[in-house]
Amino acid sequence: MRPAAGDLAMVVAVTAGLGLLVALAGIWVMWRLRTRSIGVMLAVVVVVAVAATLAGVVAIIMKMLLEGAIRDFVLSVVAVGGLVGLGVAFVLARRVVGESRRLVAAVREVPFVTPQGLPAELRTIASTLEEAYARERALEGARRELVAWVSHDLRTPLAGMRAMAEALEDGVVSDPETVARYHGQIKLEVERLSAMVDDLFELSRIHAGALRLSRARIGLADLVADTLAGVEPLARAKGVVLTAEEAATVPVEADAGALGRALGNLVVNAIRHTPSDQTVVLRAGVDEEGMACLSVSDCCGGIPEEDLPRVFDVAFRGEAARTPVADGGAGLGLAIAQGIVEAHDGMIGVVNDGPGCRFEIRLPLVRG
Ligand SMILES: Nc1ncnc2c1ncn2[C@@H]1O[C@H](COP(=O)(O)OP(=O)(O)OP(=O)(O)O)[C@@H](O)[C@H]1O
Ligand SMILES: [Mg+2]
Repeated sequence: MRPAAGDLAMVVAVTAGLGLLVALAGIWVMWRLRTRSIGVMLAVVVVVAVAATLAGVVAIIMKMLLEGAIRDFVLSVVAVGGLVGLGVAFVLARRVVGESRRLVAAVREVPFVTPQGLPAELRTIASTLEEAYARERALEGARRELVAWVSHDLRTPLAGMRAMAEALEDGVVSDPETVARYHGQIKLEVERLSAMVDDLFELSRIHAGALRLSRARIGLADLVADTLAGVEPLARAKGVVLTAEEAATVPVEADAGALGRALGNLVVNAIRHTPSDQTVVLRAGVDEEGMACLSVSDCCGGIPEEDLPRVFDVAFRGEAARTPVADGGAGLGLAIAQGIVEAHDGMIGVVNDGPGCRFEIRLPLVRG
């Protein structure tokens, strides 16, 4: 028999109404169980689907007064459908629970490697974790290296100063020339150690996010001029030719002291790695993308390609780490420069270029 249009509309309305009620109840249950296993939630989904269908079927049965064999037939179809759904949900839940246990077991392993064959979402979680762990490990390694190098760098000059101070105290050296040389040497070492302690302090403030910038509108040309004046004696002592090329006005919103320190670190490095009679060039201008750009080009002969991505790492010193040189630093200068530039929403980078390399700082340009 064909149902009348009125009956059909009635059945649709009743089924939709009951379905809505069941769905609301299901959502409420799911919300209560939101922190439980995904398996439990899947079971709720199937139960909600079966309950909504059953409610509709019961409505039809009551409306159309289905009886006997037909009613039993319809009810068993719904029951079997529900059971099949529950079975599939059970299999799926087992898989999800199993895969997440596999992920947890992998996370506990050191080093953590993303397990093969995970479902997409778990794979994303796993690879994000893997990257975070790798970053954390690299940082930890750098920190350990820094402590080892800094303590070595402190111990050697301290031992030297102690020997000189004892020799002066005991009168082992008495000729005025040696006494003067020892005094000069001790003063030099104290200055170097103070600078290193300053750098360490600055770096720890940067890492703690405690760098306080007092930003003001400044011109890069002024910054370059100030930096040049500061490093001129060093360049002269080493016989390096320092020149600057500045575009008219390049206004940026920056902390002149901090940014000057970052630029100073780049220039001191450039002078240190450039042979005498050769040139270091500072440039200030605006790049193609409309960013303010500061660059320092030197004649260092190029940085090995494999070292380029690492020069900004804390305590990275390239060759100097393997063969210490007299004026070698602690490997903090570029890490500090990077911290300062990033605190200004800028970028710092390095490329090999011509007879040496070029360090570049890019900052947002102030317009108007
Ligand atoms: N202009 C440059 N030319 C060639 N190599 C450079 C240059 N600047 C930096 N490097 C390499 O990068 C390393 C790290 O530089 P960074 O300024 O961080 O440390 P440092 O100069 O060794 O010590 P510090 O700056 O703490 O006194 C240097 O040791 C050097 O190997
Ligand atoms: Mg340096």
